[in-house]
Amino acid sequence: MHLSTSFLLLALLNSVRGATVLASAAKPTQFITLDIVNGPVAPDGFTRIGVLANGTFPGAPIVATKGQTLVVKVNNKLTDNTMRLSTSINFDGVFLDSDNIFNDGTAFVTTCPFGPGESYTYTLPLGNQTGSFWYHSQLGVQYSDGLRGTLIIYDPDDPLAHLYDIDDASTVLTLADWLHNTSTSALTSYLATQINPVPDSGLFNARGRYNGGPEVEYAAVSVSQGKRYRFRLINISVRSNFVVSIDNHTMTVIEADGIATEPHEVNILVIHAGQRYSFVTANQAVGNYWINAFINGGTRNPNLNSTLSRGILRYEGAPDEEPQTPMTAGPTGADAVLLNEWELVPLAPIPAPEPDFNLTFRTFMPEGVTAWQINNVSYIPPSEPTLVKALHGETEQMDFNKTENTFLFPANKTIQVEFIDPINEGHPFHLHGMNFWVIKSNGSDVIDTVNPIRRDVSITGNGTTILRFRTDKPGPWSLKSTLAVDNGKLTDPLVLYHFAVGLGSVIGAGLDKVEKAVHPTKAWEQLCPAYDALPPSEQ
Ligand SMILES: *[C@@H]1O[C@H](CO)[C@@H](O)[C@H](O)[C@H]1NC(C)=O
Ligand SMILES: *[C@@H]1O[C@H](CO)[C@@H](O)[C@H](O)[C@H]1NC(C)=O
Ligand SMILES: *[C@@H]1O[C@H](CO)[C@@H](O)[C@H](O)[C@H]1NC(C)=O
Ligand SMILES: *[C@@H]1O[C@H](CO)[C@@H](O)[C@H](O)[C@H]1NC(C)=O
Ligand SMILES: *[C@@H]1O[C@H](CO)[C@@H](O)[C@H](O)[C@H]1NC(C)=O
Ligand SMILES: *[C@@H]1O[C@H](CO)[C@@H](O)[C@H](O)[C@H]1NC(C)=O
Ligand SMILES: *[C@@H]1O[C@H](CO)[C@@H](O)[C@H](O)[C@H]1NC(C)=O
Ligand SMILES: *[C@@H]1O[C@H](CO)[C@@H](O)[C@H](O)[C@H]1NC(C)=O
Ligand SMILES: *[C@@H]1O[C@H](CO)[C@@H](O)[C@H](O)[C@H]1NC(C)=O
Ligand SMILES: *[C@@H]1O[C@H](CO)[C@@H](O)[C@H](O)[C@H]1NC(C)=O
Ligand SMILES: *[C@@H]1O[C@H](CO)[C@@H](O)[C@H](O)[C@H]1NC(C)=O
Ligand SMILES: *[C@@H]1O[C@H](CO)[C@@H](O)[C@H](O)[C@H]1NC(C)=O
Repeated sequence: MHLSTSFLLLALLNSVRGATVLASAAKPTQFITLDIVNGPVAPDGFTRIGVLANGTFPGAPIVATKGQTLVVKVNNKLTDNTMRLSTSINFDGVFLDSDNIFNDGTAFVTTCPFGPGESYTYTLPLGNQTGSFWYHSQLGVQYSDGLRGTLIIYDPDDPLAHLYDIDDASTVLTLADWLHNTSTSALTSYLATQINPVPDSGLFNARGRYNGGPEVEYAAVSVSQGKRYRFRLINISVRSNFVVSIDNHTMTVIEADGIATEPHEVNILVIHAGQRYSFVTANQAVGNYWINAFINGGTRNPNLNSTLSRGILRYEGAPDEEPQTPMTAGPTGADAVLLNEWELVPLAPIPAPEPDFNLTFRTFMPEGVTAWQINNVSYIPPSEPTLVKALHGETEQMDFNKTENTFLFPANKTIQVEFIDPINEGHPFHLHGMNFWVIKSNGSDVIDTVNPIRRDVSITGNGTTILRFRTDKPGPWSLKSTLAVDNGKLTDPLVLYHFAVGLGSVIGAGLDKVEKAVHPTKAWEQLCPAYDALPPSEQ
């Protein structure tokens, strides 16, 4: 094998990065600052103003080590009033305990947002969690303006470490849908047309192209033949899913949403908004290979061309050019070995407990109504966050408006939710605070309670999906479609968009225990009065 100078440089860089990760392991607490700013951004060659963490899209990457506590100070420096000026951040998939639920960042469930010129510090003990995560705005649809970034928790004792050689910043891969319009104008046009905003482009590692746009250079991922790479694929998409494959390569999946899995080899996978997978690959001849990241974004935007959403896997020694092979959507027919969620087996088996309560969630949008519903009810967030209510002793079912879709359960119980999605819309549902067991995935008829995949995002479909989770952590935990929108202001047109989305619910786990379990800080207590005092234009 030919080791070029640049490969040696790369190896050196990798070991430096590795050293950084290990060095930070020594520090039990990592202090992080994120400045949320408005600024120009042009991932597909079209320049627009975004809402950006530290001025970039994706936002500054956060790199942590197992066992650390992250103390993230978020400074809201937003000034562009054509978009939301307040913000609230969720560190997606990081499971907080009850005593810290107020740092979950879910607007109007566990917190109020904070306005321009204000700061809030999130304290996030990572506990045992390891794997691939992300952070994003959890206020309305603000994250479509760009406020999304990756969060990787490295495990110095990764039980799967023998399967790969390289796992660093260069192996974190993001997929995103991108809108040229601001989220606020997209909402306005949504109101006029009743058509969900369709993105202009699909981005692989923050680069992409759209019909008629400039030939933005595709993001190339550099690998060296003979090394095994652990790629961390993170779908930071707002709405669109991606079908991912790498020409001539298999992908050995070893993680789903922070859960290490038995190695499982596929050559094509669908990743839904919010989901994460790690896979190992890169064992082919030196060359340039297309990474196909076919975006399913909808058909109503002539800019969007799913074929143009892709990247390049480039081996050391290959020329600095695009692959000469056709741009495809990946293996088809008998050549396709698709990742089926139900075939993923967690490395650490935990059987799904028997349910104490069974729920059915029927997701539907009736004719003539522009509101997604769970069991005929569209979620409308309360103006007072659910957690605030619970802390005030409002812990009975009658304390919650029907439209709060808040389902109360005693502490320490197992809940089973069966999702019925009659028209096969495929809604990715995400649970805050804990994983669920996916005892039945859509697409499989098998119910597995022995060692089913545990994760925090799964997708509905007309074949039904069945999840189980525990209510061991008292508090209100959001269970919603990843695009569910939070907005407390009923006069705001955003709420109409929210109506159109509406697929939210809150699991009220042992709310009667919240007053005892949760002791919020003064800083958190001041968020709601401060937010309520803001003029609507700054909310
Ligand atoms: C974000 O920017 C601030 C100010 O420049 C810097 O101190 C901080 O380290 C950056 N955060 C990250 C996660 O890189
Ligand atoms: C860490 O994991 C172990 C075993 O998987 C579990 O018993 C323990 O409660 C976990 N600790 C935390 C802080 O989550
Ligand atoms: C973006 O906004 C412009 C002007 O309001 C509108 O004509 C266009 O249809 C919008 N694009 C999308 C994809 O919604
Ligand atoms: C990202 O999530 C969206 C929404 O579920 C999904 O349509 C898209 O396929 C996902 N992307 C990838 C790469 O899976
Ligand atoms: C990749 O696979 C295609 C189709 O199987 C084949 O024609 C081509 O030669 C392969 N490319 C390389 C570099 O092996
Ligand atoms: C999408 O892009 C490909 C590659 O440039 C091109 O061949 C194709 O015609 C485009 N599709 C549409 C619908 O414009
Ligand atoms: C919940 O449904 C399961 C079947 O999926 C059934 O075995 C169980 O008895 C039900 N439990 C309750 C409490 O209704
Ligand atoms: C929900 O609405 C449908 C009609 O759209 C109706 O048939 C059904 O009975 C309703 N279900 C409930 C639980 O109200
Ligand atoms: C419940 O929600 C409906 C619909 O938003 C609203 O009209 C009503 O005022 C709410 N009731 C209470 C008690 O908050
Ligand atoms: C739930 O379980 C925890 C830990 O086992 C225990 O401390 C707590 O008292 C239990 N709560 C209830 C309401 O049973
Ligand atoms: C759900 O599974 C069925 C097969 O049972 C399949 O036809 C359908 O396309 C799947 N839905 C989604 C959204 O993947
Ligand atoms: C589910 O949806 C898929 C794709 O729309 C369709 O092919 C299939 O027949 C549907 N299955 C059922 C049971 O409705």
